[in-house]
Amino acid sequence: MDRYQELLKKTAVAGQEQLLRFWNELSDAEREELAAQIEAIDFSVMANLIREYVLNKPKTEIPDDLGPAPYFPLVPRDAEQAALYKRAIERGVELLKAGKVSCLTVAGGQGTRLGFDGPKGTYPIGPVTGRPLFRYFAESIRRAGEKFGRPLTWYIMTSLLNREATEKFFLENNFFGLKPEQVFFFTQGTMPACGYDGKLLLATKSSLSLSPDGHGGTLLALRRSGALDRMAKEGVDYLSYFQVDNPLVPVVSPLFLGLHDLENSEMSAIMLAKTGPFEKLGNFCVTKGRLEIIEYSDLPAELAESRNPDGSLRFIAGSPAIHMISRSFIEHLTAGGSLKLPWHRADKKVPYVDEQGNPVKPESPNAVKLESFIFDAMPLAKRTMVLEGERRSIFAPTKNPTGVDSVESCREMLIDRDARRLEAAGVKIPRTADGKVDAKIELSPLAVFDDEDAVAYVKAHGLTEIARGAELCLE
Ligand code: UTP
Repeated sequence: MDRYQELLKKTAVAGQEQLLRFWNELSDAEREELAAQIEAIDFSVMANLIREYVLNKPKTEIPDDLGPAPYFPLVPRDAEQAALYKRAIERGVELLKAGKVSCLTVAGGQGTRLGFDGPKGTYPIGPVTGRPLFRYFAESIRRAGEKFGRPLTWYIMTSLLNREATEKFFLENNFFGLKPEQVFFFTQGTMPACGYDGKLLLATKSSLSLSPDGHGGTLLALRRSGALDRMAKEGVDYLSYFQVDNPLVPVVSPLFLGLHDLENSEMSAIMLAKTGPFEKLGNFCVTKGRLEIIEYSDLPAELAESRNPDGSLRFIAGSPAIHMISRSFIEHLTAGGSLKLPWHRADKKVPYVDEQGNPVKPESPNAVKLESFIFDAMPLAKRTMVLEGERRSIFAPTKNPTGVDSVESCREMLIDRDARRLEAAGVKIPRTADGKVDAKIELSPLAVFDDEDAVAYVKAHGLTEIARGAELCLE
Protein backbone atom coordinates (compact mmCIF):
# COMPACT_ATOMS: atom_id res chain seq x y z
CA MET A 1 0.00 0.00 0.00
CA ASP A 2 1.49 3.38 -0.83
CA ARG A 3 1.70 6.22 1.69
CA TYR A 4 -1.42 7.92 0.41
CA GLN A 5 -3.49 4.72 0.64
CA GLU A 6 -2.24 4.08 4.16
CA LEU A 7 -3.15 7.57 5.30
CA LEU A 8 -6.51 7.33 3.57
CA LYS A 9 -7.28 4.12 5.42
CA LYS A 10 -6.26 5.66 8.72
CA THR A 11 -8.37 8.78 8.32
CA ALA A 12 -11.36 6.92 6.89
CA VAL A 13 -11.86 5.18 10.26
CA ALA A 14 -13.20 8.50 11.52
CA GLY A 15 -14.57 9.86 8.23
CA GLN A 16 -11.71 12.37 8.00
CA GLU A 17 -10.51 11.72 4.42
CA GLN A 18 -10.86 15.44 3.65
CA LEU A 19 -7.49 15.96 5.35
CA LEU A 20 -5.87 14.46 2.24
CA ARG A 21 -7.83 16.61 -0.17
CA PHE A 22 -4.79 18.50 -1.45
CA TRP A 23 -2.31 15.59 -1.38
CA ASN A 24 -1.71 15.72 -5.16
CA GLU A 25 -0.72 19.38 -4.99
CA LEU A 26 1.82 18.98 -2.17
CA SER A 27 5.61 18.85 -2.40
CA ASP A 28 7.45 15.93 -0.81
CA ALA A 29 8.27 17.99 2.28
CA GLU A 30 4.67 19.12 2.66
CA ARG A 31 3.43 15.54 2.31
CA GLU A 32 5.86 14.54 5.01
CA GLU A 33 4.54 17.27 7.33
CA LEU A 34 0.91 16.28 6.81
CA ALA A 35 1.62 12.57 7.08
CA ALA A 36 3.47 13.03 10.39
CA GLN A 37 0.54 14.98 11.84
CA ILE A 38 -1.99 12.39 10.71
CA GLU A 39 0.10 9.51 11.98
CA ALA A 40 0.26 11.10 15.43
CA ILE A 41 -3.54 10.87 15.79
CA ASP A 42 -5.46 7.84 17.02
CA PHE A 43 -8.48 8.18 14.73
CA SER A 44 -10.71 5.69 16.50
CA VAL A 45 -10.27 7.65 19.74
CA MET A 46 -10.77 10.88 17.81
CA ALA A 47 -14.04 9.59 16.31
CA ASN A 48 -15.40 8.99 19.82
CA LEU A 49 -14.27 12.41 21.04
CA ILE A 50 -15.91 14.12 18.07
CA ARG A 51 -19.16 12.27 18.72
CA GLU A 52 -19.10 13.04 22.42
CA TYR A 53 -17.83 16.64 22.47
CA VAL A 54 -18.36 18.19 19.04
CA LEU A 55 -21.54 16.71 17.61
CA ASN A 56 -23.04 16.69 21.11
CA LYS A 57 -22.52 19.22 23.87
CA PRO A 58 -21.74 17.21 26.99
CA LYS A 59 -23.30 18.53 30.17
CA THR A 60 -21.27 18.26 33.35
CA GLU A 61 -23.16 16.04 35.75
CA ILE A 62 -23.68 17.80 39.06
CA PRO A 63 -23.76 15.18 41.83
CA ASP A 64 -26.70 15.44 44.25
CA ASP A 65 -24.42 15.52 47.25
CA LEU A 66 -22.19 18.33 45.92
CA GLY A 67 -20.98 20.52 48.77
CA PRO A 68 -18.30 23.12 49.34
CA ALA A 69 -14.80 21.75 49.89
CA PRO A 70 -13.15 22.10 53.30
CA TYR A 71 -10.05 24.28 53.42
CA PHE A 72 -7.43 25.69 55.76
CA PRO A 73 -8.39 29.33 56.36
CA LEU A 74 -6.06 32.28 55.82
CA VAL A 75 -6.15 33.13 59.51
CA PRO A 76 -5.83 30.06 61.73
CA ARG A 77 -9.07 29.19 63.47
CA ASP A 78 -7.56 28.49 66.88
CA ALA A 79 -4.29 28.05 68.73
CA GLU A 80 -3.94 24.46 67.59
CA GLN A 81 -4.22 25.47 63.94
CA ALA A 82 -1.84 28.38 64.50
CA ALA A 83 0.71 25.91 65.83
CA LEU A 84 0.18 23.70 62.78
CA TYR A 85 0.79 26.66 60.42
CA LYS A 86 3.97 27.50 62.32
CA ARG A 87 5.17 23.91 62.01
CA ALA A 88 4.24 23.93 58.33
CA ILE A 89 6.31 27.05 57.64
CA GLU A 90 9.28 25.47 59.40
CA ARG A 91 8.80 22.27 57.41
CA GLY A 92 8.49 24.24 54.15
CA VAL A 93 11.73 26.09 54.81
CA GLU A 94 13.41 22.80 55.68
CA LEU A 95 12.28 21.26 52.37
CA LEU A 96 13.45 24.32 50.42
CA LYS A 97 16.82 24.19 52.13
CA ALA A 98 17.08 20.50 51.28
CA GLY A 99 16.42 21.21 47.58
CA LYS A 100 13.21 19.14 47.53
CA VAL A 101 11.22 21.60 45.42
CA SER A 102 11.22 22.88 41.84
CA CYS A 103 9.04 25.48 40.15
CA LEU A 104 6.69 24.74 37.28
CA THR A 105 5.18 27.40 35.03
CA VAL A 106 2.59 26.62 32.39
CA ALA A 107 3.22 28.92 29.46
CA GLY A 108 1.81 26.99 26.53
CA GLY A 109 -1.46 28.92 26.18
CA GLN A 110 -2.25 31.03 23.14
CA GLY A 111 -3.16 34.17 25.06
CA THR A 112 -5.90 35.03 22.59
CA ARG A 113 -7.68 37.46 24.90
CA LEU A 114 -4.54 39.48 25.52
CA GLY A 115 -3.95 39.67 21.78
CA PHE A 116 -0.19 40.12 22.24
CA ASP A 117 2.18 39.12 19.46
CA GLY A 118 4.54 36.62 21.10
CA PRO A 119 4.54 34.21 24.04
CA LYS A 120 2.56 35.68 26.95
CA GLY A 121 5.57 35.31 29.26
CA THR A 122 7.42 37.93 27.21
CA TYR A 123 4.72 40.55 27.92
CA PRO A 124 6.20 43.70 29.55
CA ILE A 125 4.03 43.82 32.68
CA GLY A 126 6.28 45.76 35.11
CA PRO A 127 4.45 49.03 35.98
CA VAL A 128 7.62 51.13 35.75
CA THR A 129 10.27 49.27 33.77
CA GLY A 130 8.10 46.98 31.67
CA ARG A 131 9.80 44.00 33.32
CA PRO A 132 8.51 40.97 31.37
CA LEU A 133 6.45 38.29 33.09
CA PHE A 134 9.23 35.72 32.66
CA ARG A 135 11.69 38.13 34.33
CA TYR A 136 9.43 38.47 37.40
CA PHE A 137 9.46 34.72 37.91
CA ALA A 138 13.14 34.25 37.01
CA GLU A 139 14.26 36.90 39.51
CA SER A 140 11.98 35.55 42.24
CA ILE A 141 13.36 32.07 41.61
CA ARG A 142 16.93 33.39 41.79
CA ARG A 143 16.28 35.23 45.01
CA ALA A 144 14.42 32.28 46.59
CA GLY A 145 17.39 30.08 45.69
CA GLU A 146 19.75 32.51 47.43
CA LYS A 147 17.51 32.81 50.44
CA PHE A 148 17.12 29.10 51.05
CA GLY A 149 20.65 28.27 49.99
CA ARG A 150 19.61 25.89 47.20
CA PRO A 151 19.11 27.00 43.58
CA LEU A 152 15.68 26.03 42.29
CA THR A 153 15.15 24.32 38.94
CA TRP A 154 12.45 25.93 36.82
CA TYR A 155 10.30 23.76 34.53
CA ILE A 156 8.55 25.77 31.84
CA MET A 157 5.85 24.22 29.70
CA THR A 158 5.51 25.68 26.22
CA SER A 159 3.50 24.57 23.22
CA LEU A 160 4.72 23.62 19.76
CA LEU A 161 3.59 27.08 18.69
CA ASN A 162 5.66 29.12 21.16
CA ARG A 163 8.58 26.89 22.22
CA GLU A 164 11.09 28.44 19.82
CA ALA A 165 10.15 32.05 20.59
CA THR A 166 10.22 31.33 24.33
CA GLU A 167 13.68 29.79 24.28
CA LYS A 168 14.96 32.61 22.09
CA PHE A 169 13.71 35.15 24.62
CA PHE A 170 15.57 33.42 27.43
CA LEU A 171 18.77 33.23 25.38
CA GLU A 172 18.56 36.90 24.40
CA ASN A 173 18.13 37.81 28.07
CA ASN A 174 20.89 35.55 29.40
CA PHE A 175 18.29 33.53 31.24
CA PHE A 176 17.72 36.57 33.47
CA GLY A 177 20.76 35.61 35.50
CA LEU A 178 19.71 32.01 36.09
CA LYS A 179 22.09 29.29 34.99
CA PRO A 180 20.82 27.90 31.67
CA GLU A 181 20.80 24.39 33.18
CA GLN A 182 18.42 25.65 35.87
CA VAL A 183 15.72 26.11 33.24
CA PHE A 184 14.07 23.08 31.65
CA PHE A 185 11.73 23.78 28.73
CA PHE A 186 9.29 21.13 27.66
CA THR A 187 6.50 21.00 25.12
CA GLN A 188 2.92 19.99 25.70
CA GLY A 189 0.79 17.92 23.35
CA THR A 190 -1.62 19.20 20.73
CA MET A 191 -5.21 18.50 19.75
CA PRO A 192 -6.70 19.09 16.29
CA ALA A 193 -9.51 21.63 15.99
CA CYS A 194 -12.78 20.24 14.69
CA GLY A 195 -15.45 22.07 12.68
CA TYR A 196 -19.06 21.91 13.86
CA ASP A 197 -19.75 19.34 11.12
CA GLY A 198 -17.37 16.94 12.86
CA LYS A 199 -14.58 17.36 10.28
CA LEU A 200 -11.06 18.19 11.43
CA LEU A 201 -9.82 21.45 9.95
CA LEU A 202 -6.77 22.13 7.81
CA ALA A 203 -4.83 25.28 8.71
CA THR A 204 -3.03 25.08 5.36
CA LYS A 205 -3.18 22.55 2.55
CA SER A 206 -0.42 20.58 4.24
CA SER A 207 -1.12 20.96 7.96
CA LEU A 208 -3.91 20.39 10.40
CA SER A 209 -5.19 23.11 12.65
CA LEU A 210 -3.52 22.05 15.89
CA SER A 211 -3.67 23.77 19.25
CA PRO A 212 -2.21 23.07 22.70
CA ASP A 213 -4.11 20.38 24.62
CA GLY A 214 -4.77 22.48 27.75
CA HIS A 215 -2.81 22.81 31.00
CA GLY A 216 -3.97 19.28 31.88
CA GLY A 217 -1.39 18.25 29.28
CA THR A 218 1.32 19.23 31.76
CA LEU A 219 1.35 15.95 33.64
CA LEU A 220 1.97 13.69 30.66
CA ALA A 221 4.37 16.18 29.10
CA LEU A 222 6.41 16.13 32.33
CA ARG A 223 6.89 12.39 31.92
CA ARG A 224 7.45 12.38 28.15
CA SER A 225 10.00 15.18 28.27
CA GLY A 226 12.18 13.50 30.88
CA ALA A 227 11.36 16.19 33.46
CA LEU A 228 10.18 13.60 35.99
CA ASP A 229 13.41 11.65 35.54
CA ARG A 230 15.45 14.77 36.09
CA MET A 231 13.49 15.58 39.25
CA ALA A 232 14.07 12.07 40.56
CA LYS A 233 17.77 12.33 39.81
CA GLU A 234 17.98 15.67 41.60
CA GLY A 235 16.00 14.34 44.56
CA VAL A 236 13.14 16.78 43.97
CA ASP A 237 9.81 15.60 45.38
CA TYR A 238 7.51 18.59 44.88
CA LEU A 239 6.50 20.98 42.11
CA SER A 240 5.28 24.47 42.87
CA TYR A 241 2.85 25.09 39.99
CA PHE A 242 1.70 28.49 38.73
CA GLN A 243 0.52 30.19 35.53
CA VAL A 244 2.59 32.45 33.34
CA ASP A 245 0.12 35.32 33.53
CA ASN A 246 0.19 35.85 37.31
CA PRO A 247 3.31 37.82 38.30
CA LEU A 248 2.00 38.31 41.84
CA VAL A 249 2.27 34.64 42.71
CA PRO A 250 4.94 33.60 45.23
CA VAL A 251 7.04 31.13 43.21
CA VAL A 252 7.43 29.06 46.37
CA SER A 253 5.58 29.43 49.65
CA PRO A 254 6.94 27.70 52.76
CA LEU A 255 3.50 27.53 54.40
CA PHE A 256 1.80 25.98 51.36
CA LEU A 257 4.65 23.55 50.77
CA GLY A 258 4.96 22.58 54.41
CA LEU A 259 1.22 22.02 54.84
CA HIS A 260 1.14 19.93 51.66
CA ASP A 261 3.84 17.75 53.15
CA LEU A 262 2.49 17.56 56.70
CA GLU A 263 -0.96 16.67 55.40
CA ASN A 264 0.49 13.93 53.16
CA SER A 265 -1.29 15.54 50.26
CA GLU A 266 -0.55 14.37 46.71
CA MET A 267 -1.97 17.47 45.05
CA SER A 268 -2.83 20.69 46.85
CA ALA A 269 -4.42 23.94 45.81
CA ILE A 270 -4.65 27.54 46.93
CA MET A 271 -8.18 28.88 47.10
CA LEU A 272 -9.42 32.48 47.15
CA ALA A 273 -12.68 33.79 48.53
CA LYS A 274 -14.66 34.60 45.37
CA THR A 275 -15.64 38.22 44.76
CA GLY A 276 -19.20 37.13 43.89
CA PRO A 277 -21.24 34.04 43.03
CA PHE A 278 -20.34 34.14 39.34
CA GLU A 279 -16.67 35.08 39.42
CA LYS A 280 -14.93 33.22 36.63
CA LEU A 281 -12.94 30.85 38.81
CA GLY A 282 -13.25 27.09 39.21
CA ASN A 283 -15.14 26.13 42.39
CA PHE A 284 -13.65 23.81 44.99
CA CYS A 285 -16.37 21.30 45.80
CA VAL A 286 -16.64 17.93 47.42
CA THR A 287 -18.64 14.89 46.43
CA LYS A 288 -18.59 11.49 48.11
CA GLY A 289 -15.66 12.63 50.17
CA ARG A 290 -13.62 13.58 47.11
CA LEU A 291 -12.44 17.00 46.06
CA GLU A 292 -13.67 18.15 42.68
CA ILE A 293 -13.32 21.46 40.90
CA ILE A 294 -16.39 22.55 39.01
CA GLU A 295 -15.91 25.19 36.34
CA TYR A 296 -17.74 28.47 36.90
CA SER A 297 -19.80 27.88 33.76
CA ASP A 298 -20.92 24.46 35.04
CA LEU A 299 -21.97 25.34 38.58
CA PRO A 300 -25.77 25.78 38.55
CA ALA A 301 -26.86 29.31 39.51
CA GLU A 302 -28.87 28.13 42.53
CA LEU A 303 -25.73 26.54 43.96
CA ALA A 304 -23.46 29.43 43.01
CA GLU A 305 -25.83 31.85 44.74
CA SER A 306 -26.58 29.73 47.80
CA ARG A 307 -25.52 31.28 51.11
CA ASN A 308 -24.61 30.25 54.63
CA PRO A 309 -26.74 31.49 57.56
CA ASP A 310 -24.22 34.34 58.09
CA GLY A 311 -24.78 35.56 54.51
CA SER A 312 -21.44 34.37 53.09
CA LEU A 313 -21.38 32.36 49.85
CA ARG A 314 -21.63 28.60 50.43
CA PHE A 315 -19.41 27.88 47.45
CA ILE A 316 -16.91 30.56 48.36
CA ALA A 317 -13.69 28.83 47.31
CA GLY A 318 -12.42 29.81 43.86
CA SER A 319 -9.31 28.45 42.16
CA PRO A 320 -6.47 30.80 41.10
CA ALA A 321 -4.62 27.79 39.59
CA ILE A 322 -1.81 27.63 42.15
CA HIS A 323 -0.87 24.10 43.12
CA MET A 324 1.65 21.97 44.94
CA ILE A 325 2.05 18.59 43.29
CA SER A 326 4.06 15.60 44.48
CA ARG A 327 6.34 13.98 41.92
CA SER A 328 5.26 10.52 43.10
CA PHE A 329 1.64 11.39 42.27
CA ILE A 330 2.50 12.43 38.70
CA GLU A 331 4.65 9.31 38.29
CA HIS A 332 1.77 7.15 39.45
CA LEU A 333 -0.83 8.88 37.26
CA THR A 334 1.25 8.66 34.08
CA ALA A 335 2.84 5.27 34.78
CA GLY A 336 1.45 3.58 31.67
CA GLY A 337 2.62 6.44 29.45
CA SER A 338 -0.90 7.80 29.19
CA LEU A 339 -3.30 9.78 31.37
CA LYS A 340 -7.02 10.17 30.98
CA LEU A 341 -8.37 13.49 32.17
CA PRO A 342 -11.81 14.68 31.08
CA TRP A 343 -11.91 16.95 28.03
CA HIS A 344 -13.49 20.39 28.07
CA ARG A 345 -15.07 21.87 24.99
CA ALA A 346 -14.29 25.43 23.90
CA ASP A 347 -16.01 27.07 20.94
CA LYS A 348 -13.47 29.15 19.02
CA LYS A 349 -12.89 31.09 15.81
CA VAL A 350 -10.40 28.87 14.00
CA PRO A 351 -8.91 29.97 10.65
CA TYR A 352 -8.88 27.19 8.02
CA VAL A 353 -8.58 26.47 4.30
CA ASP A 354 -11.86 25.69 2.55
CA GLU A 355 -12.59 22.96 0.00
CA GLN A 356 -11.04 25.05 -2.76
CA GLY A 357 -7.93 25.70 -0.69
CA ASN A 358 -8.79 29.35 0.07
CA PRO A 359 -7.85 30.63 3.55
CA VAL A 360 -10.89 31.62 5.63
CA LYS A 361 -10.84 33.78 8.78
CA PRO A 362 -14.18 33.22 10.49
CA GLU A 363 -16.01 36.12 12.16
CA SER A 364 -17.78 33.90 14.66
CA PRO A 365 -16.93 30.57 16.33
CA ASN A 366 -16.79 27.77 13.77
CA ALA A 367 -14.96 25.01 15.57
CA VAL A 368 -14.40 23.15 18.79
CA LYS A 369 -11.08 22.92 20.58
CA LEU A 370 -10.66 20.30 23.28
CA GLU A 371 -8.55 20.97 26.33
CA SER A 372 -7.88 19.12 29.55
CA PHE A 373 -7.42 20.97 32.85
CA ILE A 374 -4.80 20.32 35.51
CA PHE A 375 -7.31 20.61 38.35
CA ASP A 376 -9.12 17.53 37.08
CA ALA A 377 -6.18 15.53 38.45
CA MET A 378 -7.18 16.46 42.02
CA PRO A 379 -10.06 13.95 42.29
CA LEU A 380 -7.54 11.26 41.29
CA ALA A 381 -5.33 11.96 44.30
CA LYS A 382 -5.53 9.83 47.44
CA ARG A 383 -5.16 12.95 49.57
CA THR A 384 -5.59 16.61 48.73
CA MET A 385 -5.27 19.85 50.66
CA VAL A 386 -6.73 23.30 50.05
CA LEU A 387 -5.32 26.43 51.68
CA GLU A 388 -6.85 29.88 51.56
CA GLY A 389 -4.65 32.61 50.05
CA GLU A 390 -4.87 36.38 50.26
CA ARG A 391 -5.99 37.56 46.85
CA ARG A 392 -4.28 40.97 46.87
CA SER A 393 -0.93 39.33 47.63
CA ILE A 394 -0.96 36.37 45.25
CA PHE A 395 -3.34 36.69 42.33
CA ALA A 396 -3.23 39.26 39.52
CA PRO A 397 -4.05 37.42 36.30
CA THR A 398 -3.20 39.15 33.02
CA LYS A 399 -5.89 37.88 30.69
CA ASN A 400 -7.13 41.02 28.90
CA PRO A 401 -5.63 44.36 27.82
CA THR A 402 -8.08 46.37 29.96
CA GLY A 403 -10.89 45.86 32.48
CA VAL A 404 -11.24 42.81 34.73
CA ASP A 405 -8.15 40.54 35.01
CA SER A 406 -6.17 42.81 32.75
CA VAL A 407 -2.77 44.39 32.25
CA GLU A 408 -4.18 47.48 33.99
CA SER A 409 -5.53 45.66 37.04
CA CYS A 410 -2.39 43.54 37.29
CA ARG A 411 -0.08 46.59 37.30
CA GLU A 412 -2.24 48.25 39.93
CA MET A 413 -2.04 45.16 42.12
CA LEU A 414 1.74 44.87 41.69
CA ILE A 415 2.14 48.49 42.79
CA ASP A 416 -0.22 47.96 45.71
CA ARG A 417 1.58 44.81 46.91
CA ASP A 418 5.00 46.47 46.67
CA ALA A 419 3.73 49.60 48.44
CA ARG A 420 2.25 47.52 51.27
CA ARG A 421 5.57 45.71 51.66
CA LEU A 422 7.42 49.00 51.98
CA GLU A 423 4.76 50.43 54.27
CA ALA A 424 5.01 47.41 56.57
CA ALA A 425 8.75 48.04 56.66
CA GLY A 426 8.12 51.58 57.88
CA VAL A 427 8.18 53.59 54.64
CA LYS A 428 5.63 56.40 54.22
CA ILE A 429 3.60 55.77 51.06
CA PRO A 430 1.57 58.55 49.37
CA ARG A 431 -2.06 57.56 48.94
CA THR A 432 -5.08 59.27 47.37
CA ALA A 433 -8.26 59.94 49.36
CA ASP A 434 -9.67 56.57 48.31
CA GLY A 435 -6.54 54.77 49.53
CA LYS A 436 -4.88 54.14 46.17
CA VAL A 437 -1.09 54.38 46.00
CA ASP A 438 -0.29 57.80 44.50
CA ALA A 439 3.01 56.80 42.89
CA LYS A 440 4.32 54.16 40.55
CA ILE A 441 6.53 51.70 42.40
CA GLU A 442 8.19 48.54 41.18
CA LEU A 443 10.31 46.35 43.44
CA SER A 444 12.76 44.05 41.74
CA PRO A 445 12.06 40.53 43.00
CA LEU A 446 15.85 40.12 43.16
CA ALA A 447 15.98 42.79 45.84
CA VAL A 448 12.71 41.93 47.57
CA PHE A 449 11.31 38.41 47.42
CA ASP A 450 9.17 38.68 50.56
CA ASP A 451 8.30 40.93 53.53
CA GLU A 452 11.50 40.00 55.32
CA ASP A 453 13.56 41.17 52.33
CA ALA A 454 11.59 44.43 52.27
CA VAL A 455 12.59 45.20 55.85
CA ALA A 456 16.26 44.51 55.06
CA TYR A 457 16.10 46.60 51.88
CA VAL A 458 14.51 49.59 53.59
CA LYS A 459 17.09 49.49 56.35
CA ALA A 460 20.05 49.06 54.01
CA HIS A 461 18.93 51.96 51.80
CA GLY A 462 17.69 54.25 54.57
CA LEU A 463 14.36 54.55 52.76
CA THR A 464 11.78 56.54 54.74
CA GLU A 465 9.31 57.97 52.25
CA ILE A 466 8.14 57.74 48.64
CA ALA A 467 7.30 61.11 47.08
CA ARG A 468 3.79 61.73 45.78
CA GLY A 469 3.62 61.07 42.03
CA ALA A 470 7.07 59.42 42.03
CA GLU A 471 7.86 56.79 39.45
CA LEU A 472 10.60 54.52 40.65
CA CYS A 473 11.98 51.02 40.44
CA LEU A 474 13.90 49.75 43.44
CA GLU A 475 16.58 47.31 42.29
P1 UTP B 1 -5.77 30.34 29.95
O1 UTP B 1 -6.80 29.30 30.03
O2 UTP B 1 -6.05 31.63 30.60
O3 UTP B 1 -5.43 30.55 28.43
O4 UTP B 1 -4.43 29.72 30.50
P2 UTP B 1 -4.44 31.55 27.69
O5 UTP B 1 -3.95 30.81 26.51
O6 UTP B 1 -3.36 32.11 28.57
O7 UTP B 1 -5.34 32.75 27.24
P3 UTP B 1 -6.65 32.79 26.29
O8 UTP B 1 -7.71 31.96 26.98
O9 UTP B 1 -6.25 32.22 24.95
O10 UTP B 1 -6.96 34.22 26.25
C1 UTP B 1 -4.09 29.68 31.84
C2 UTP B 1 -2.65 29.24 31.94
O11 UTP B 1 -2.48 27.96 31.40
C3 UTP B 1 -1.51 27.96 30.38
C4 UTP B 1 -1.44 29.40 29.90
O12 UTP B 1 -0.19 29.67 29.28
C5 UTP B 1 -1.65 30.15 31.20
O13 UTP B 1 -0.47 30.19 31.95
N1 UTP B 1 -1.92 27.02 29.31
C6 UTP B 1 -3.18 27.08 28.83
C7 UTP B 1 -1.01 26.13 28.84
O14 UTP B 1 0.16 26.09 29.28
N2 UTP B 1 -1.41 25.28 27.85
C8 UTP B 1 -2.65 25.29 27.35
O15 UTP B 1 -2.95 24.47 26.46
C9 UTP B 1 -3.57 26.21 27.85
